[in-house]
Order: sequence, then C-alpha cells, then structure tokens
Amino acid sequence: MALPAKLIQEFDELVTHYPEKRAGLIPALHRCQEELGGWVSPDTMEALAEYFGLEPVEVYGVASFYPMFRLTPPGKHVISVCHNISCELRGATELMEHVCKKTGTKPYGTSADGKFTVWPVECQGACANAPMIDLDGVYHEDLTTEKVDKLLGGLA
Ligand code: FES
Repeated sequence: MALPAKLIQEFDELVTHYPEKRAGLIPALHRCQEELGGWVSPDTMEALAEYFGLEPVEVYGVASFYPMFRLTPPGKHVISVCHNISCELRGATELMEHVCKKTGTKPYGTSADGKFTVWPVECQGACANAPMIDLDGVYHEDLTTEKVDKLLGGLA
C-alpha cells in the first residue's frame, strides 16, 4: 500500500520541523488514523515504516504503545470519553459506564452491530467544562447521562 499523495506532501513538510525524520512518526500516525478509516492498519504501518526509514515493527511498537491509536477498525461512531482528573472529579467514571451500557460496548471496544466504538482518552483541553466526550470529532461538554442519551438518540 502506498500512502496517499496528500499525506506524503504533509509529511514532507512535517519532517522539516524535527531534527530527525523519524521524530515525525507520532503526528503522522495521527494523520493516518484521521484520514484512513479511523485506525492504523498493518498496511499503513508498513507504508509509514518505508516513509520514515524504519522497520515495520518499530512503527508497530509506537502505534501499539499509545492508547490513542486504534489498531482495529472502529465502529461507525467513535465516542472518546475523557477520563483525566477534571472529568474524573465530575463524573467521568459514571459517564463511561453509562456510555458503554447504552452502546453495548466496553472501553476500547466496538459494539456487536459495528455502530459504536468507545475510547477512553486523556485530557482533551476542555477541563473547564468537564466531563466531556468527543463524538465523531465534535466536543460535547458539561455532560450528564441525560445529555448523553440525547446525543446518542440522535445518531443514525
Ligand atoms: S480532564 Fe477531561 S478535558 Fe481535561
């Protein structure tokens, strides 16, 4: 698999900001996940290894170390639930339990119907309005279980 030309162009610019080309791997993994179906496939890891002059196992080592990278395809809707301190103090544990119950998932899992993936995430910078989730790339803050029900109820 070849990386899309658009990503290659981005990465060519990205690596100019680092003393070593390989230092751009993490942002490149993020971009691949965003652009290539919401996960980092083995083919993508191989293509990144070739681009960065690394062994595929080195890319896998990085991608599998950080929980923000998904190594399996996500469901149709990705619900990222912040579980850092501000959100935790304002009910993130209960919110996570509620989201999992409503969607039929477990943290880092996908529902059997493929509709939802629930992903615990670190601080998203919205602490002032904790607790929060990122639903398909859009932040929802000051959440309650009732607000989550409304959000999920509106999804196809
Ligand atoms: S701790 Fe949840 S957004 Fe910062």
